Amino acid sequence: MSTTPILKLHGLSKHFGGIKAVNDVSFELAPGEIVGLIGPNGAGKTTLVNIVTGRMPPSSGRIVFEGQDVTTQRAHQAARRGLCRTFQIVQPFPAMTVLENVTAGALFGAGAASPTEARAQAMESLAFVGIAGLAGQPAATLTLAARKRLELAKSLAMKPRVLMLDEVNAGLNSNEIEGATALIRRIAERGVTVLIIEHLMKVVLSLSKRLLVLHHGRLIADGPAAEIVADERVVEAYLGQKFAARLRQAQHGEAQLGEAQNG
Ligand SMILES: Nc1ncnc2c1ncn2[C@@H]1O[C@H](COP(=O)(O)OP(=O)(O)O)[C@@H](O)[C@H]1O
Ligand SMILES: [Mg+2]
Repeated sequence: MSTTPILKLHGLSKHFGGIKAVNDVSFELAPGEIVGLIGPNGAGKTTLVNIVTGRMPPSSGRIVFEGQDVTTQRAHQAARRGLCRTFQIVQPFPAMTVLENVTAGALFGAGAASPTEARAQAMESLAFVGIAGLAGQPAATLTLAARKRLELAKSLAMKPRVLMLDEVNAGLNSNEIEGATALIRRIAERGVTVLIIEHLMKVVLSLSKRLLVLHHGRLIADGPAAEIVADERVVEAYLGQKFAARLRQAQHGEAQLGEAQNG
């Protein structure tokens, strides 16, 4: 695997009036990595994704994607470069069919040469996420789990190089989460670099060896998952003492977590 980062953030900030939603955040993603981004509600996770994928400009800082400065890019430019995301609140066009929704994504994000090509890409993405059978249904008729799959198919039809998944499991039951987790793993196996925002630690830890932790807009930790979950600041900011104690107990004896990290 190449060690040249596919994505680099340099001192990225976003202010909304007096709120520093994202505050001087820097990190790099290596190609092919699955990285978990965690943090309490309001930490700035979605805002970070919004900035990186061109939905809103940063207040300051730089974004470098595949060696190119893309700080001022718009959303469609980000998508065409392969810097793609899913939305935390999925909003398909309800009257359009599932296939039409994904085809629109392919046209927007992948610059498909023709509608025929876009439809073919869309069908392939729908098959990949396992809802090809729903292609002809109006999006409004889908269950939440299927809507989340549709959202994934839409972003896959954009041919992502980096995919940012914003709480794709929220609201799903444990069977559905298991299916979605397997799917995310298969997406990464295709060579897509994945940044996954996820509240369920079990899911994050099963997918990611590396975690980033945001708190009040600041990146307070970046490192191997086993060290992060033992980091006192992370425990206080996010995980809670009870969870951390259980986790340490569960992992007691495992070499990597043998010594709890301090500070
Ligand atoms: N468009 C916006 N306008 C004003 N404030 C916003 C906007 N988007 C997010 N915020 C604020 O920025 C902070 C971070 O929000 P968000 O990025 O949604 O956090 P998270 O995804 O980690 O829950 C919150 O205080 C939120 O209210
Ligand atoms: Mg969010």
